[in-house]
Amino acid sequence: MQLLDGKLVSEKLKNDIALEAAEFTKQSGRQPHLVAILVGNDGASETYVASKMKNCEKVGFKSSLVRYDTSISEAELLQKIDELNKDEGVDGFIVQLPLPKHINAEKVTEAIDHRKDVDGFHPINLGRMQRNLPCFIPATPYGILLMLQEYGIDTTGKYCVVVGRSNIVGSPMSILMARNNNPGNCTVTIVHSKTPDITEYTKKADILIAAIGKADFVTADMVKDGAIVIDVGINRVESSETKSGFKLKGDVKFDEVAPKASFITPVPGGVGLMTIVSLLKNTLSAAKKEIY
Ligand code: GUN
Repeated sequence: MQLLDGKLVSEKLKNDIALEAAEFTKQSGRQPHLVAILVGNDGASETYVASKMKNCEKVGFKSSLVRYDTSISEAELLQKIDELNKDEGVDGFIVQLPLPKHINAEKVTEAIDHRKDVDGFHPINLGRMQRNLPCFIPATPYGILLMLQEYGIDTTGKYCVVVGRSNIVGSPMSILMARNNNPGNCTVTIVHSKTPDITEYTKKADILIAAIGKADFVTADMVKDGAIVIDVGINRVESSETKSGFKLKGDVKFDEVAPKASFITPVPGGVGLMTIVSLLKNTLSAAKKEIY
């Protein structure tokens, strides 16, 4: 079993991004600039956004955080998005999800100019991704592709099972793994909460991508010997072992699955770190106008 080490790979890629960012800043006289909008104070969202901002500083980007109380109206949020769309000093921006129930997340996503949509959630980016055209690829799936690439894993002809069909991970991941590219060129199945027998599929998977958001969901009996196991889960579970009273657990029961796997990502230290790298890569591409 070999660990797919998100720490190692993300540090290496961030070094490359920092060099490119320095060159961009030298040529253009300004830093790449990412803005994040955070509505409310959901604990997980706070942590993710803080990490995104901190990593921007690390690679020499400018970052700005726009915070709103949960009571902000949809119209006010759309107004801010319109402002950021027009602001030439902003290369890319994200609206951290989830949003409060009174705000239509679909409407918000579609209001973002697709040329600044560094999350890759806008239907134009998703449609272009499906057609294998230049676009912003959603950060977590993109991070998984980069990880497979870094370890030189050839996915061509493999059977890939994606557990979970979210807009953020499962759905785009399944498209990417089926595209006519390496990583990709897979036969892909998505399984989800309404699939009668998930194990029937997962136990045949050469590549198993767990993105269902349930701690320890994937157990050893669900995994084929020699499988490549990618764990997207970042589940906060209560724990007496840590000061904070909680710890992070993946969707995969690591201790029993790892001995069966050829490659596996740990949690923490796996896919989560790669997600940030991808967001930085997308922001740099936006600044350099490489895509649009
Ligand atoms: N919430 C969970 N993951 C993400 C992400 O990648 N982007 C945004 N905007 N919100 C999220």
